[in-house]
Amino acid sequence: MITFFIQKVKNFIFNSFESFQSNKEARKKKIIFSNCKAIGTNFNLGKDYHVHNPQYIEIGDNFIAGVRFRIEAWDSYYDQKFSPKIKIGNNVIFNTDIHIGCIDKIEIGKNCLFGSRIYITDHHHGGPTLEMLKIAPKDRPLSSKGPVIIKDNVWVGEGVAIMPNVTIGENSIIATNAVVTKDVPANCVVAGVPAKVINIIK
Ligand SMILES: CC(C)(COP(=O)(O)OP(=O)(O)OC[C@H]1O[C@@H](n2cnc3c(N)ncnc32)[C@H](O)[C@@H]1OP(=O)(O)O)[C@@H](O)C(=O)NCCC(=O)NCCS
Repeated sequence: MITFFIQKVKNFIFNSFESFQSNKEARKKKIIFSNCKAIGTNFNLGKDYHVHNPQYIEIGDNFIAGVRFRIEAWDSYYDQKFSPKIKIGNNVIFNTDIHIGCIDKIEIGKNCLFGSRIYITDHHHGGPTLEMLKIAPKDRPLSSKGPVIIKDNVWVGEGVAIMPNVTIGENSIIATNAVVTKDVPANCVVAGVPAKVINIIK
């Protein structure tokens, strides 16, 4: 009887702690994401996220992202200044371990699906010049070749990297582990490093 009672008390303490922790997490999430430029209804995000400058980020309705979602809009780096804009449309799903980094513009259309371990960036640390090699990589100025635009209904497979100055056309599929360095037309499948069209869907 006493053992039963002790177990009950232990369960009560454990459940209260769990509930306190998850309420704390929900409050933190709410505070961070309510600072977004816009945020839709039905927002679902896993643990261990990181958001840098939510005021430059717009997120549509029915957003889902798994654990370790990292999204960064850089408006300054040392003495450099930027005007970053990240826009994510309605009904977009990201799996786990996503990193989105922006100094210029990253736009994701509606109904897009992303696998895990995906990197989307519109910038580099300096260019590949001898001048730049004299500076430590972290101290090189950030530069963008152009925005990343992902149109509606795109499916991005696991382990994909999407590099600066790339537009991915509507309905296209990016195969697992591709590195996208050039524009992708609509309605096609691209694969490889660098990604090339392997199928035009007709
Ligand atoms: C792109 C994809 C959809 C193509 O599937 P599919 O149409 O069934 O294609 P197939 O398996 O018939 O392969 C077609 C060709 O593309 C090649 N290919 C397929 N996936 C590839 C990849 N990731 N990288 C390089 N080549 C690939 C195949 O080797 C094959 O080449 P071949 O014609 O010379 O033999 C699929 O390979 C893929 O990457 N799916 C993503 C899965 C994923 O990441 N899911 C995460 C959950 S959101």
